[in-house]
Amino acid sequence: MTHASDRQRDHFDNEAKTIYRDRHLAVLREQAAELWEDDGQTRMRGAWLELMGASGWRTRDMLVDGGILPPDRFVGVDFDPARIAAYRDRYPDSRWLSGDLLDLVDRDELQDVVVLHYDGYDAVGGPRLQHVGAQLAAVLRRAVTRHAAAAILWNADLDACRLQGRRPDDALRHHAELLARLLQEAAGNRRVILPADLLPRGEELRPLDPGFVGWAGSFEIYRGSARGHRMACLRLVLR
Ligand SMILES: C[S@@+](CC[C@H](N)C(=O)[O-])C[C@H]1O[C@@H](n2cnc3c(N)ncnc32)[C@H](O)[C@@H]1O
Repeated sequence: MTHASDRQRDHFDNEAKTIYRDRHLAVLREQAAELWEDDGQTRMRGAWLELMGASGWRTRDMLVDGGILPPDRFVGVDFDPARIAAYRDRYPDSRWLSGDLLDLVDRDELQDVVVLHYDGYDAVGGPRLQHVGAQLAAVLRRAVTRHAAAAILWNADLDACRLQGRRPDDALRHHAELLARLLQEAAGNRRVILPADLLPRGEELRPLDPGFVGWAGSFEIYRGSARGHRMACLRLVLR
């Protein structure tokens, strides 16, 4: 397995991202039996929310062509109305919303979402996290109430912290603290989520080596392109 790919050739449409998408399904199969309709875990319940960008169609094809979701349970969102209009033309049988996801969380199209793939590429531990998390927590809370479980696939830019004058270990520690607080909000009193559950003490030091890819606690650190920033992905099932 390689974590490297050529971002100059294809920004988010590359081998590293294919491995990343496949891993979502592996985690959901291992950890979220409630999210599958059948014992063989071939068909998912509820809807999947994807931030689209240029390559979110790859996730849709993985799910819909793979028979995992019917097309009308894939919800694609993006800031860019032209991009969403093009997707609607290409895939009229899926759900499409343009605008800021954080302003759309109460829309009818999102009521049955159980998997939230949030890869907006915000900076790890960045200032937007609190606002983003509060809105996403509302979607997750609703999913847990209605469907017994929900999954968040949260991908953030680890190396962006260096541009902000912060060290990756401090940023990742802060990220884990904020995410634990926000996910706790979504889980209510059903479960206790502590920062150390996501990032055991000392694990934040692993990405200090700029060449490090692999696991830091529950965060998968991977490189989305050969020379690009490293990403930190947390996949968490709430119930
Ligand atoms: C990295 S791309 C998505 C890649 C895609 N999910 C995939 O797996 O290939 C992120 C996209 O989400 C959009 N985006 C980020 N935050 C958003 C938000 N809060 N609401 C709507 N779109 C957002 C960005 O503009 C960008 O087009």
